Amino acid sequence: MCALLKVNDLRVKYQTFEGVVHAVNGVSLEIGERETLGLVGESGAGKTTTALSLMRLIPSPPGIIESGEVFFDGRALHELPEDEMMQVRGNQISMIFQDPMTSLNPVLTVGLQIAEVIVAHQGVSSAEAMRRAESLMEKVQIPAARSREYPHEFSGGMRQRIGIAMALACNPRLIVADEPTTALDVTVQAQVIELIRELRDELSTAMMLITHDLGVVGEVCDHVAVMYAGEIVEKGDLEQIFDHPMHPYTRGLFQCVPDIEEENSVIQPIDGLMPDPFHLPAGCRFHPRCPECLEACRTTVPPLSERDGHSVLCHLYAEGGARG
Ligand SMILES: Nc1ncnc2c1ncn2[C@@H]1O[C@H](COP(=O)(O)OP(=O)(O)O)[C@@H](O)[C@H]1O
Ligand SMILES: [Mg+2]
Repeated sequence: MCALLKVNDLRVKYQTFEGVVHAVNGVSLEIGERETLGLVGESGAGKTTTALSLMRLIPSPPGIIESGEVFFDGRALHELPEDEMMQVRGNQISMIFQDPMTSLNPVLTVGLQIAEVIVAHQGVSSAEAMRRAESLMEKVQIPAARSREYPHEFSGGMRQRIGIAMALACNPRLIVADEPTTALDVTVQAQVIELIRELRDELSTAMMLITHDLGVVGEVCDHVAVMYAGEIVEKGDLEQIFDHPMHPYTRGLFQCVPDIEEENSVIQPIDGLMPDPFHLPAGCRFHPRCPECLEACRTTVPPLSERDGHSVLCHLYAEGGARG
């Protein structure tokens, strides 16, 4: 099967006054038609940089895409001129951001903003666009009459639903949602996730869902990629990652999830912090925090091992390794 989105060896750095941040270091991933990939990892892992880079929305300067190929439905996005790329954004791939306030214009009514996207991408009349905007608002469970209100008149959860309506305005084939519920109250998070899941199913879109919440991944995703210090350290389908996590980092992430069914469950966070992005460790980038660190991990970059579509970047699983 030909993947809808295919990213090969993406490398992105930020050139700052303090030095060079190697934010994304050779990321490869695929998302099939109607598939949802969860991209998980702690803050600073490079998740947002990955998403922005494949949309070619990385701020430059300081961001520089050093290398990488991005194919969408067989088309090489990394080679498209900017005007064609603009058509792809919105018509084919759209984004939902963490904080909807940053993507909404404070001085325009929300109805007009959604309608603007529709006019720009679908070339329909303003009246028709407004009608479609109102029906999208109802789809995200906001009364159409509120289309004449401004972003500040809505609660955080409602603004995010408007952000979702905007992302859906052009019937995208892929939605990239970057921590869509992180900025919301816990009680609202579940509703917004449920809405995203319903709309994805109804519209048959594929999705990349960026989150640090494994609970959300378990509810929504069918594939998972775990990111650490700019690399995907483990990748597989939901069962592979949840039932048989391999990388010590992935196992550590699961130990951070409180088990509500287990009365005496203890949350065991992973020791240490993400490495200083200016000075990434040699060998395996996770080795200073790894409870199973071997001699080779300190000096040698781990090889990628793969079986049945479940891949891991770790010396333990290399040929001749403890679990290889
Ligand atoms: N505009 C920027 N300028 C300099 N460094 C940046 C910029 N944006 C992100 N970074 C750095 O790149 C790394 C990856 O960041 P990011 O992609 O935002 O990670 P995540 O989304 O996983 O939290 C971090 O070390 C972060 O500090
Ligand atoms: Mg981020």
